[in-house]
Amino acid sequence: MSSLVRVETQDGVAVIAVDNPPVNALSVGVPDGIIAALAAGAADPGIDAFVLLGAGRTFIAGADIREFGKPRPPGARTIFDLIAALEASPKPVVAAIHGTALGGGLEVALACHWRVGVEGSQYGLPEVKLGILPGAGGTQRLPRLIGVEPAAKLIVSGDFVPARKALALGIVDALVEGDLAAAGTAFARQVVAEGRPLRLVRDMNDKLAVPDGFFDEMRRSIARSGRGQVAPWRCIDCVEAAATLPVDQGLKRERELFEECLASPQSKALRHFFFAEREVAKIPDVPKDTPTRPVAKAAVIGAGTMGGGIAMTFANAGIPVTLIETGQEALDRGLATMRANYARTVASGRMPQATMDKAMGLVVGTLDLGAVADADIVIEAVFEDMAVKKDLFGRLDDIAKADAILATNTSTLDVDEIAAATRRPEKVIGTHFFSPANVMRLLEVVRGAKTDKSTIASTMALARPLKKVAVLVGVCDGFVGNRMLAGYMQQALFLLEEGCLPQDVDKALYDFGFAMGPFAMMDLAGNDVEWRIRKHREKTKPPPADLRRSALPDLLCEAGRFGQKTAAGWYRYEPGDRTPHPDPTVETMIVENSARIGMRRRAIGADEIVRRCLLPLINEGARILDEGLALRPGDIDVIWVYGYGFPSYKGGPMFHADQIGLPDVLAQLLRLESEQGRFWTPSPLIVRLAEAGQGFSSLKVG
Ligand code: 3HC
Repeated sequence: MSSLVRVETQDGVAVIAVDNPPVNALSVGVPDGIIAALAAGAADPGIDAFVLLGAGRTFIAGADIREFGKPRPPGARTIFDLIAALEASPKPVVAAIHGTALGGGLEVALACHWRVGVEGSQYGLPEVKLGILPGAGGTQRLPRLIGVEPAAKLIVSGDFVPARKALALGIVDALVEGDLAAAGTAFARQVVAEGRPLRLVRDMNDKLAVPDGFFDEMRRSIARSGRGQVAPWRCIDCVEAAATLPVDQGLKRERELFEECLASPQSKALRHFFFAEREVAKIPDVPKDTPTRPVAKAAVIGAGTMGGGIAMTFANAGIPVTLIETGQEALDRGLATMRANYARTVASGRMPQATMDKAMGLVVGTLDLGAVADADIVIEAVFEDMAVKKDLFGRLDDIAKADAILATNTSTLDVDEIAAATRRPEKVIGTHFFSPANVMRLLEVVRGAKTDKSTIASTMALARPLKKVAVLVGVCDGFVGNRMLAGYMQQALFLLEEGCLPQDVDKALYDFGFAMGPFAMMDLAGNDVEWRIRKHREKTKPPPADLRRSALPDLLCEAGRFGQKTAAGWYRYEPGDRTPHPDPTVETMIVENSARIGMRRRAIGADEIVRRCLLPLINEGARILDEGLALRPGDIDVIWVYGYGFPSYKGGPMFHADQIGLPDVLAQLLRLESEQGRFWTPSPLIVRLAEAGQGFSSLKVG
């Protein structure tokens, strides 16, 4: 028997336990172990039935993603062999499910005769999130079991369903309690006692009818979310095959489309991203067992947009939070905005009123800074002014608990300088939330020169209850994300000077896969924010006089066009509507500006737009890696996908660069440098890697 699979006999039932931590993936050896157990049990007259379950924390969470694209050892059995063996079993097989039955795990369960689950278990076919589709019969069996419509939704979204919903849908036949092996065995014994005929999902054909036009409608519904991607469309094709073809032909079609998706660059990118997202939690010098301090109570200072959003994030996680302001009016406004944000979500049906009431009940507003005294973490989100922040941290030092985490949400200031205003710089850390803070998944955790390991580990661990993806970065201007953004935005502006309009640039980048283009993004964030920062910088840290800069964003702000909030920015907006409309006034401004600076406007294609905007990202990302300010190229990818809407199916800017090939990237940078000057000077890391014929993925951490 394989060491990955154990068998125990209980009351004439062979309980087959997959024991392949951490998630019981179907790695090489697991199918062999289960198949061998089925064969042994079939031949054993003392065995009447089987229960298949997962040891440890979960049922089978799917195929082993790390094995994709790798050759299998000769003779190793596959998930297809396993499914065939389950369906051929002459004795009943019951899948007993706790934790997650996902992807290939659920597909294996669908090949069992019955399925039982426990409260808290979850079910899903999340393959689409890896750029593939359920390739072991999931697209053919799930529609047969629960009906085409609900199955199509699950397969195309990749969403998980909780136990009770799974029962209602018919994914599981019963929810059981107590010891899983015992409950599964009891269910199997009952099946045997009742002499129930073996039930195969593949033979069920009574739920395959769909309303006319169902698949067309399904395709229309993903026109936006699935744009540029392959897998969601192929998922629909497969479910359509389930509804229209005999099961064996449907399975054949699924297999062909699965292979096509698996070989696609998108799947490679999404698999990279899956692991990158998990890798970010690993910090070489802050081991997993570093003591963390629990956060049972938080305080947020500043009830502006960011402070309010951060407070909502804590309240959503069930953590009581005190929101502190200096004036009653600002505090009232902040609390009212939070309430209005929640109310909008409730009105849209995405949140029950009770959840809103519970969250708001966890928020206490006050004007008393002394209220930070019982907080385990204090997050400062006040105006971006170093003097104000230093003064505040100096005062916090006297009030906050000795071991409290003192966090700053600054996006532009030096965390080390802020830390130096306290007697405990080791407890000071940056928590750079992204706006809207209660929505955006990214959290840049900024490690100061003196931040201690426990503060880092505690802040990184806090991301999980807050439902954020935390990425550790070092102190530098703009940290990782915004530092890279600067060059991207600059190029977008230069493209306007050279011949584009905002809608041209935005369309090219939207079509590349970004959630939105840079000009729509600036209008959403508010053009005045950067304007204020620019003006401040011009005084404190003026850019070199010979560096090319565009006057356009200043001209826009001087005309009062701050973006969506003023219904006019790079676009114009109808009242109460966020749809950007090209604006002839802006076009005139752009064309006149080009004439003023002596720039002859020319037609610029989408390829050039994308290249010009992405190369600075890659180049700056490389500098950041060279300076040790991000741990891994994958960390930068995670920042860009979760913070800036970079398409995950292209893996992130650094993965994308590797796909282009660094020698090619280098050649493009050198060409632009010769045409346009030192903005394009390639980073030494790109030069080194390109000359060695390597990519960013070859870099080792630590
Ligand atoms: N293959 C290989 N490794 C996997 C894996 C898988 N299917 N699923 C999770 N892991 C690894 C993770 O990389 C991580 O490794 P690490 O500790 O070295 O970083 C470890 O297991 C724990 O994973 P998480 O940190 O994500 O743990 P959580 O408890 O937060 O989540 C989970 C558990 C919900 C199972 C989550 O890991 C998950 O969603 N996994 C992917 C599930 C999936 O996509 N299954 C389908 C696979 S494709 C397939 O089955 C094809 C088939 O149709 C033919």
